[in-house]
Formats: sequence, C-alpha cells, structure tokens
Amino acid sequence: MSVHSTEVAERVDALIARMSVAEKAGQLTQYFYFNLPPSDEPGAVFSGQPAMVETALAKGEVGSLLFVTDPAEVNRLQRLAVEGNRHGIGVLFGFDVVHGLRTILPVPIAMAASWDPGVIEQGQAVAAREARAAGIGWAFAPMVDIARDPRWGRVVEGAGEDPYLGAAVAAAQVRGFQGDSLGSPDRIMAGPKHFAGYGAALGGRDYDEVNLSDSELWNVYLPPFKAAVEAGAGNIMTAYMDLNGIPATGSHWLLAEVLRGTWGFDGFVVSDAQAVHNLRTHGFAADLTDAGARAVSAGVDMEMAVGDPAFAHLPQAIEAGLLDEEVLDASVRRVLTAKVRMGLLDQPYVDEERARTVLSDPAHRAVARTAAQRSAVLLRNEGDLLPLTSPGSIAVIGPLADSRRDILGPWVFDFDLDETVTVLDGIRNRAGDGAEVRYAPGIRPAHRTFPSMFDMFASNAPADPAGFDDDAELARAVTLAREADVALVVLGEWQNMIGEAASRSSLELPGGQLALLQAVVATGTPVVLLIMNGRPLDLRWAAENVPAILDIWYPGTQGGAAVADVLFGDVAPGGKLPFSWPRTVGQVPVIYSHTISHDPGNQGRRYWDEASTPLYPFGYGLSYGRFEYSDLTLDRDQIQAGQTVTVSVTVTNAGRRAGDEVAQLYLRQRYGSASRPSRELKGFQRVTLAAGESRTLRFPLGPGELRYWNAATRDWVIDTTTIDVFAGGDSTAELTTSFTVGC
Ligand code: BGC
Repeated sequence: MSVHSTEVAERVDALIARMSVAEKAGQLTQYFYFNLPPSDEPGAVFSGQPAMVETALAKGEVGSLLFVTDPAEVNRLQRLAVEGNRHGIGVLFGFDVVHGLRTILPVPIAMAASWDPGVIEQGQAVAAREARAAGIGWAFAPMVDIARDPRWGRVVEGAGEDPYLGAAVAAAQVRGFQGDSLGSPDRIMAGPKHFAGYGAALGGRDYDEVNLSDSELWNVYLPPFKAAVEAGAGNIMTAYMDLNGIPATGSHWLLAEVLRGTWGFDGFVVSDAQAVHNLRTHGFAADLTDAGARAVSAGVDMEMAVGDPAFAHLPQAIEAGLLDEEVLDASVRRVLTAKVRMGLLDQPYVDEERARTVLSDPAHRAVARTAAQRSAVLLRNEGDLLPLTSPGSIAVIGPLADSRRDILGPWVFDFDLDETVTVLDGIRNRAGDGAEVRYAPGIRPAHRTFPSMFDMFASNAPADPAGFDDDAELARAVTLAREADVALVVLGEWQNMIGEAASRSSLELPGGQLALLQAVVATGTPVVLLIMNGRPLDLRWAAENVPAILDIWYPGTQGGAAVADVLFGDVAPGGKLPFSWPRTVGQVPVIYSHTISHDPGNQGRRYWDEASTPLYPFGYGLSYGRFEYSDLTLDRDQIQAGQTVTVSVTVTNAGRRAGDEVAQLYLRQRYGSASRPSRELKGFQRVTLAAGESRTLRFPLGPGELRYWNAATRDWVIDTTTIDVFAGGDSTAELTTSFTVGC
C-alpha cells in the first residue's frame, strides 16, 4: 500500500471511529433530487421530494445526491450537507453522464459502432470535464451490459452483442471518465452498470427476469465488467432484475464472490434506483430492514433511493442482529475512501464561473463532431450515390430531420437545444449557396402507446404540430422530392422510444414512415435514407429499394454537421455494426457467435418463411474506399497453451477514394472440451487508407483470446485443438488460415 493510500485509509478510519450508526447509514444513502412541480403525471413520485431530501441533508443523513446539474444548486445543497454534518463530510454528486453533459456525444451504441477506442475515450473525457466543472464527481456510466435482443430499449446505451468489442469499449470509457486514476483533475468516477445480465431481459422486456447459463455469463455477459474493473472503475452499479432467480441487488455470489473475490474490485457498489427497497417487492426480503441488511451483506455499499430508503433501517438491522457493524463499516470505508480520493473532503464546492467556461468550450463540440463522423455506418451505397456530387437541389424529408431534441437521443438532460445542429441545419450549412435545400416533414411524429417516465422532462415527448394536414403534408414532401436532384429521408425512432423503459414488441419504423419513404422513392429521385436509431429497425424494404442507407444513430449536438461531412465526402464513413441487424423481430435474438450446432449447412434456413441470417452481419459497414484482404499469415502455426501467436493480414484500399476500414479478426475452435461459437471476434483495428494504399496489420493472440469458460469443469480452459482464423471487414470474413494449440 502506498503512503498516499495509507494516509487515505487513516483519514477514513478516523472518521468512521467517530460516526454513529445512523450517520454511517446516512453516508450509504443516495437520493434523487428533482425540483419538479407537484403533478399526477409520470414521475409524480418525485414531486415534494426536495423538502424531504433537504431535511435529510440538514441532519447529515445523505451520502450522495443524483440529478443535480446546476453548479449553483450543487453548492447550495453541498453547504446544507457539510453544515448539517458534524464531520463536515460533503455529498458526492452523481449523474447519468451517459453520452455527454452539455456537449452531447453520439449515443453509446453509436460510439461503439466507431470501433475506435481512442475516440470513445476522448468523448468520455469531454463528458467528464464538463461534469466535473459542474460539480458532478461520478457518472452512472458506462452501461456495459451485453444486449442481444433489440426489443430491449437499453440496447442504445451499450456496445451491442459482442463481449470482445464490449470489453474494449468498456475499458475505453472508464479511461475517458477517470483518466489515470480516481481523483484526476477534470475527470470523474466511472460507474459501470448494471451488474449483471440486465441486457438479457426475458422477451426484451425491461426489468423482467434474466436467466443465463453459466457459459453465457462467463463468456459473454461478464467480460465487459471485468474489463471495466481492470481499467480501474471506482464504482459498480447493481441491476434491477433477478438473475437466475436471485435479485442481482441481493446477490452475494455476484457482488461478494465474483466482483470483489474473483476480480478484486476495491471500489464501492451502488444499487440501481430503489433496487434495495425493491428486494421486498421482488418477494425476496421480508421488510425494509431485512432488505437493507441483505443488500449490505451481499455487497451493496450505497442505496440509490427515490424515497423511504431501506438503509434508513440499517441501525435496526444491527440492533436485531441481522447485520454486523463491521460489515457496515466496510461499506462506509469504501464510500468514504472514494470521497477522499475524489478530493471531496478538501474541496467540496465548485467554481461556478469556471463551470460556465468549461461547458461552452468549443473544443468539446469538435470532439463531438468527430465522434459522430466516426460512428456513422454506411449500410448501402448502390452506384456510389454517396458521397453526393454537387447536387443543385436537395430535398430533406421526415419529421426527425429537423428535430433538435431527437438528434440528441435519450439519457440527456442538460443539453442546449439552441446550439444543436439538426440534419437539415447541417445540410443547409454545408450546401451554402451551392444547392437549394428544401424541407418537408411529410408526416407528423409518432407516439408511444404507453408514455415514457422520461416524458416528464420538458421537450422529451414529441409535440404534435398544430394544424398539420396529413394529406397535404405528404403531397408536399413528395413534390419536393420529385423536384430535387436527391432526396435525403431521415427516419427512425423518436428518442423517447428508445432507452430505459422503452422496450418494443416490433422493430418496424413507427408511424407512417415506411409509407413516406415508399412515396418518396416512387418519385424516381435518388434517395439517401438516414436512419436515426439506437437499435436495428426493420429495413427489409429499404435494403432492396433505396440506393443508399446511412445509419447516423442519435449523433448528438453536432450530429447534423457530422452527417453533412459524411454525405458530402469531407470525411469517409467507417463505422461498423456492433450487432447483427435482424430482418424482422421474429428472428431476435440473432447473433453471429452462435455455436455450430446441428445441421450447420442450413443455419440460414431455420425458418420456412424468412431467411434466418441477419439483414446485415455483425461488424458490417461500407466506406467510400473498397477494401481487400490478403496475405493472412501466422508467425508460427503451432503453439502450446499459454503461448502467443501473431496474425498478420494486409488490407488494401482497391477503391477510387480514400476510406476507413475496421479490420476484424475472428476465431473458430474446431473441437475441444465444449462446443464453441462458429466465430468469435478476437481483434480489430480501424485504419484510414488512401486509394491504392495497403497496410499490414498485426494481431497477437494469447491466452486471453484463446481461453474460455467451460461450463462442465466450471473453469477457464485452453483446449488442445485446431483454431481457424478469419480476417476481413465483417463477421462473414472468408480469408482464412489455421494453427494448432497443444498438439
Ligand atoms: C437506471 C440506471 C440509472 C438510474 C439513475 C435507473 O432507472 O436503471 O441506469 O443510472 O436510474 O438515473
């Protein structure tokens, strides 16, 4: 232990020695703080809450607050906390800094689609800098849940279906948030979530139970968490649901055994919102005292509470012998250690003037623009329609094309709509006087059948335009398209249709969007479809009938500018899909890394009515260059378990324009002590190549890439076997070689 950490430990122990059990319970309690007017609408649960929280602050019974983003409010509430607390311990402010605070970056699934850990790290460093300046010390991010069922709305918050990509993205995000170590200036603590398995909700229904096999847990769902812990994450958040019959927030196995025991995590664990309280609702804990005692005993250190915290009953739990005070002290120690390391005990207040400067830093907008450029995935480009070659007139169509709120995506609260660049703005700015740009929404916004709890925030639900004449507007859009040289049609999901509590039973384009697209395509004007989404949507018709399709996701504050950069060829697209894109909802979950199983020759014909292959495979995406792979070689063709083999492959841009490519490496184990996936991603590199340029890339494959969790022996193994290696631009790569292990 370094001198520094000894000093921290001594300081923390001295505080704990002076604290009452109630004060300790207070340090372990985190409250939402919303200044919302009283209402009967969704979210009414939060009204009247400020008074309750301020009373608790004044009694020194709050360890952390969430949802305060105004630096002046941070200081006011901090004063209440510090003065209400005889030990002067400040409150740690946490927030869902998911993809930016003021500068909104592309949504996380888009960032993952960049396959660019560097840009991901830079993006979260910007988010951290803004949050820290505003007084927020802790992000409830990254969400590192593997998501294989796009009906689940939170697929937008993660890195998709694959554990290898997921782990790389998780580590990059933690590095971006935290910098070199917890407490680095301009950085904040990362809180990877939701531990664990939350993405596998039954039927894709958010919050429903999860049942995962031992093999899926260790080989697929846990690796991104492990990577986040290894990257030094200071916090972990639990999950809401039952995992294999045990509520994740009360799971000793998950928290004490795997997280702390096997992985040696030494940060603190926070529950998801109300999840400790809900151990009772789950039919697990008898009452709130039992819920609190069980959560702390399992390994939860802090309760995120809407109100009526179970942890307020911890003193009774200790009195009743349900919980050992030493166990409670260990939790308090972890929380206070984080506070000391974050500098909260020395400088609890924030510089409001500086916050204004940091939040408006133009350098942050530049990072957001680059991130959005690098996230875009070109799905189709028949006849090289893109990049656009000086069209004289452009029709921009669709209600999402000029929506400032929707282009930002879900999970943002502190955005600035005035500085947000819509697709229409971006096209207009880029085209300048060179082209006539005309806009028509074509249809009115679609709505959810059941409102979102996030609709309680202003501007989150789309407004129905007054006096909108459906027939006339559709006709106007069609006319604009007919008269233009090219039509850019922006379709997708409104942002309140994706995210938490935004599961869907269908993947169709909501509302009248497909009909709008079909009417525009029928004009004969070349159409570029821009998809604004956080999950795959049913694009079967478009994939056959629309010449160019660009997935722009929810690209953020600078989204429209970045989309224009890509469309006009100022930069080449180079993102790749972080999930297999299904044809239809009936196919989900569809993944590339399925085992070979019975009758592999007919893997694509498992249904009699529709191909069972994806519409676009995992890892797929085009660019303005055209890439060829050659010279797949190994530095040796035989290794022993524990050794490393290095794969080399040459990528050539055989196209006429510069472009970006993500070279990918997949492995298949031919035989061994378990059936293994037909392919598994084990390496990737994104490169920019000029027309005609070649580059040789190297991928080391060592024990980390070759081992897997064997469900029979319940341990990691490296089998004696032959491994096929595939290299290429997506998960269907055909260039192949092989090596043996241990033979
Ligand atoms: C979500 C978490 C989030 C928390 C605080 C919960 O409902 O599941 O991901 O961090 O709310 O906003």
